[in-house]
Amino acid sequence: MVPPLSTALKLALSAVLLAATPIAAQDSPVTRVWEGKEYACKCYPGDECWPQQNAWGSLNDTVDGNLHVHIPPEAACHNTFEGPLGTVETYDAQECQHVMQNYADEEWSTGQQALLLWKYFTNHTCTPTNNPNEPCTLGYYGVYVIEAQTTDHIKASIDFARENNLRLVIRNTGHDFIGRSTGWGALIINTFGFKDVQFIDAWTGAGDYDGGAVRVGAGIQGRDLLRQAFAHNVAVVTGECPTVGIAGGLVGGGGHGPLTTLHGMVADNALEFDAITAEGEFVTANADENADLFYALKGGGPSTYAVVTSATFRTYPEEMASGGELYINATVPGTTEDQVWEGVRIFHSYANHLVDHGLYVYYEVAPFTLRIRPYVAIGKTREELDAIVAPILADLTAAGVPFTATSKQFASFFELYMDLFEDEGAGAFALTGGWAFTHDDVAARNDDIVDAFKLVVSPREDLAYTGVVIGHLFNPGYGWPSAADSATHPKWRNSTDFVISIVPVPVDASLEKKAELQDLLTNTVDAALREAGPEGFTYINEADPYQPNWQEAFWGDVYERLVCIRRKWDPNGVFYSIATPGTEDWEVIEYGTRLCKAV
Ligand SMILES: Cc1cc2nc3c(=O)[nH]c(=O)nc-3n(C[C@H](O)[C@H](O)[C@H](O)COP(=O)(O)OP(=O)(O)OC[C@H]3O[C@@H](n4cnc5c(N)ncnc54)[C@H](O)[C@@H]3O)c2cc1C
Ligand SMILES: *[C@@H]1O[C@H](CO)[C@@H](O)[C@H](O)[C@H]1NC(C)=O
Ligand SMILES: *[C@@H]1O[C@H](CO)[C@@H](O)[C@H](O)[C@H]1NC(C)=O
Ligand SMILES: *[C@@H]1O[C@H](CO)[C@@H](O)[C@H](O)[C@H]1NC(C)=O
Ligand SMILES: *[C@@H]1O[C@H](CO)[C@@H](O)[C@H](O)[C@H]1NC(C)=O
Repeated sequence: MVPPLSTALKLALSAVLLAATPIAAQDSPVTRVWEGKEYACKCYPGDECWPQQNAWGSLNDTVDGNLHVHIPPEAACHNTFEGPLGTVETYDAQECQHVMQNYADEEWSTGQQALLLWKYFTNHTCTPTNNPNEPCTLGYYGVYVIEAQTTDHIKASIDFARENNLRLVIRNTGHDFIGRSTGWGALIINTFGFKDVQFIDAWTGAGDYDGGAVRVGAGIQGRDLLRQAFAHNVAVVTGECPTVGIAGGLVGGGGHGPLTTLHGMVADNALEFDAITAEGEFVTANADENADLFYALKGGGPSTYAVVTSATFRTYPEEMASGGELYINATVPGTTEDQVWEGVRIFHSYANHLVDHGLYVYYEVAPFTLRIRPYVAIGKTREELDAIVAPILADLTAAGVPFTATSKQFASFFELYMDLFEDEGAGAFALTGGWAFTHDDVAARNDDIVDAFKLVVSPREDLAYTGVVIGHLFNPGYGWPSAADSATHPKWRNSTDFVISIVPVPVDASLEKKAELQDLLTNTVDAALREAGPEGFTYINEADPYQPNWQEAFWGDVYERLVCIRRKWDPNGVFYSIATPGTEDWEVIEYGTRLCKAV
């Protein structure tokens, strides 16, 4: 997809790289001073320690030619791409059209070398355009990407990054909301090519589980795995999103999806990992072997302890299922905005009722609209689902709130999934936060919670009707009461609604404007959610990493144990992802560019 490296770039590269002075000592970090503080930083292009061209050449040989200079696909719409290694001519009308046609497509986006789906953390410095004279620069993307085909390629990438003190980024599907699969000036390992799937009828490995299982490569995506599982008449706990990965960031942060109320978090379901450590060692982690690493890889933070190359999860027999939808929309004549909010209040007052009946519900509260698609009731008939939802509809009718509600029965969960879950669009430019409301908070403070949703939708007078709430009703504690074996926040076992808050950012926002909106997210929008749910907590994969007391909010009592495990497996910070255990001293300084440790 990316235009081939042109001769112009090669020449530019040689000029830049040959001019570099000999390599500094491997592990001597680059010293920088920023805002009066001293830092020891990773090594970046232009620093003396940046590896010389022959070193990159031998890395390329080691990874069988899979090392690429990262040129974002959008460069095809621009005359030139001005990268840190030089300037290259990139315009290609046909390729540009292809990029434009596919830019909002999640499936296409995931298959690119390093593209991020949510664009805010790319810095938006190279975009599809009809004006090829617009500049195109790398922004916060990595400089080189290795499209790993074998585990040896991953090991070679880790070794090279460690030995040369480079920032290392692991990129699987690029779904990350908070930019953790990107990083300025980094070497990127792309794990998307690891698609092996192997079903196991009865697990005989470590631990006392002996049911069905599936071993998947790091790059497998939700819908792809569910399709293969269906052919084996089983289901697996995945995310709700068809294109999100499972064995990368999802399990690493915990992972919730349509089966979570019945069968727990994705992390609860892991039986074993194959991984490569910061030292470049191949390890297996399960209940018997490297049990501490096994625990931490199950929700203790992505890109924190090791690179996962494959993971094994429990499977469950396929079951029939029913699903429903409900819409309240003020653009429909006869419905007022107040009626929509009254509808949200009524619906949400039944949140505990829905999860207590084993349901999972995905919904969105956007300006003037409540969209519930879908309610998921596994193993229940349509009549049973309708009976569970009936009191909500009765209350809406009694309150005079117009709505549209439908329900259907499916022969299998997979058929429900294909019918009622859809790809979301790529390309949003927004900040995201999030908060989980526990059972007790929903019971005691439903009206406060709905008031907080109003604030998310209209956080300030000049930002009225710009925000969105994405809600997920589920309780992992319903089907999986004990969290003792996974590094997920213990409060998940009492949770009812995990919501994401979205604060859109204008694409041309200045640094000051971005800082102001980040402050709004942390101290106004998410502060309102936190106040409405004082017993709550939040989810490392879908929340604001800049919130106060993130350690407590993401992990609660299990945090200290995770810091110890981090110190043991990655004492020197070969891996990094924001707001994960043990990263307190690390900071990305100089306007979101250099990753450094305070000294
Ligand atoms: C549209 C959309 C829908 C979503 N739906 C859900 C959902 O239903 N449930 C849910 O729980 N979350 C959901 N998420 C959030 C999701 O959990 C995170 O985006 C998650 O980080 C995705 O992991 P990934 O590996 O697919 O993505 P990436 O962005 O490629 O990676 C995310 C993080 O994981 C690290 N990582 C990737 N691969 C590895 C590896 N092999 N070893 C170690 N670290 C690795 C990366 O370095 C990065 O820190 C959704 C996100 C989006 C954008
Ligand atoms: C790595 O090698 C391949 C195959 O020879 C080549 O196409 C590619 O351009 C090389 N990458 C770099 C960064 O030079
Ligand atoms: C990121 O974007 C800001 C504008 O918001 C700009 O000032 C800055 O130079 C950009 N940095 C990089 C590395 O692209
Ligand atoms: C609201 O309903 C209108 C009319 O049916 C539809 O066009 C619009 O997309 C709906 N809005 C949302 C956000 O669902
Ligand atoms: C779950 O909620 C109950 C009732 O409020 C409480 O007693 C229990 O401690 C909670 N469990 C966790 C893990 O927070």
